Amino acid sequence: MKQNQKSKALDIDFVRAQFPAFSEPSLQGQAFFENAGGSYTCQPVIDRLFRFYHQRKVQPYSAYEASRLGGEEMDEAQARLAAWMGVETDEVSFGPSTTQNTYVLSQAFRQMLKIGDAIIVTNQDHEANTGPWRRLADSGIEVREWQVDPETGHLDVADLQNLLGDKVKLVCFPHCSNIVGEINPAAEIVTIAHEAGALVCVDGVSYAPHGLPNVGALGADIYLFSAYKTYGPHQGIMAIRRELGMALPNQGHYFNADHLDKRFTPAGPDHAQIAASAGMVDYFESLCAHHGSDAITPVAKSEFVHDLMRAHETQLLQPLLDFVSAKNSARLIGPRDASGRAPTVAIVLKERGEDVAARLKDHGIMAGGGDFYGVRVLKAVGENPDHGVLRVSFVHYTHQDEVSKLLNALDTVL
Ligand SMILES: Cc1ncc(COP(=O)(O)O)c(C=O)c1O
Repeated sequence: MKQNQKSKALDIDFVRAQFPAFSEPSLQGQAFFENAGGSYTCQPVIDRLFRFYHQRKVQPYSAYEASRLGGEEMDEAQARLAAWMGVETDEVSFGPSTTQNTYVLSQAFRQMLKIGDAIIVTNQDHEANTGPWRRLADSGIEVREWQVDPETGHLDVADLQNLLGDKVKLVCFPHCSNIVGEINPAAEIVTIAHEAGALVCVDGVSYAPHGLPNVGALGADIYLFSAYKTYGPHQGIMAIRRELGMALPNQGHYFNADHLDKRFTPAGPDHAQIAASAGMVDYFESLCAHHGSDAITPVAKSEFVHDLMRAHETQLLQPLLDFVSAKNSARLIGPRDASGRAPTVAIVLKERGEDVAARLKDHGIMAGGGDFYGVRVLKAVGENPDHGVLRVSFVHYTHQDEVSKLLNALDTVL
């Protein structure tokens, strides 16, 4: 039974009070719908970043006070995020971005895999979780593509089963695409891949802002997301399970090879941003406390926050999907039912996506247009990446009134 018995509706006023952007004068009157590009930052993250730069901006992990506190705060961020994701502390590492993390990981796999081995990538992914892997073909690795349905952008698990086989060592896929928006059945995919003897690397960048996953329960060998899209600082966060992380060739300094959390982050870490990442968990904790969660363990709290966010988002999303689906002049990419998707909505229009986004600006809507580095998926669903899509994306802090404003604005510009 769930520990989260007291789940109730999201208190949107409380939520927005935790984000200074909502009281920032220069942002007033504008509704933010480019959250999948990068979210607003919550107050605890800003506070920690400010404190680090003011009080602790020294080399961490020495005995003197400022250094000790800085190191402790970095460790705190790692430990608390790991606990919320259901993995061990040193199974979490930080890198400059998810793109950089997948790049480093792909180099490690390049050394580990042998000529004739195969990997599976999708054409639904953001380029970050497909391009670096595809380049392994240069080293004699066979790359098999798990392709989306050209009508819907959907990834069919049956198609994956047909691609798997003895030679396949790794399956890379998105938990949720930043264009299609559909939430893929990650646990099922992980199980199928593991049964076939393959490892999995999951891009959770478009999923995590809607609730951190329990990576331990999911069973993924690697799970990646970007803190700057999840109310935090500009960091890529990577969970890599110990067995795989210690088996892959070390990509860091040779003398750090015994430290799992240093093996795939060759760059020196951004101390302040890692420390500030603890503020993400402060914020999630405050959501639990404010909404009366009786969850005790971090993963149970995480589940509570996920459910709280999702319920609010889903309720706001359905009218937007209905509206876009009803427009003859628009093609909605991805599911029409809010329950199976994130509130990241890509729309193909007669006009270029960027041009429509520019016109929305005049209606007080902050949105983006383009290919969003999902060039392959746009081509796969028969669209021209240069023409691009209008993408409107929101998260749990989005207000009902903002969605109404968006619908009015869309009605005018579409
Ligand atoms: C689904 C998805 N994966 C990966 C990335 C890349 O993340 P980063 O900017 O941290 O490299 C993005 C960025 O937009 C994304 O949307």
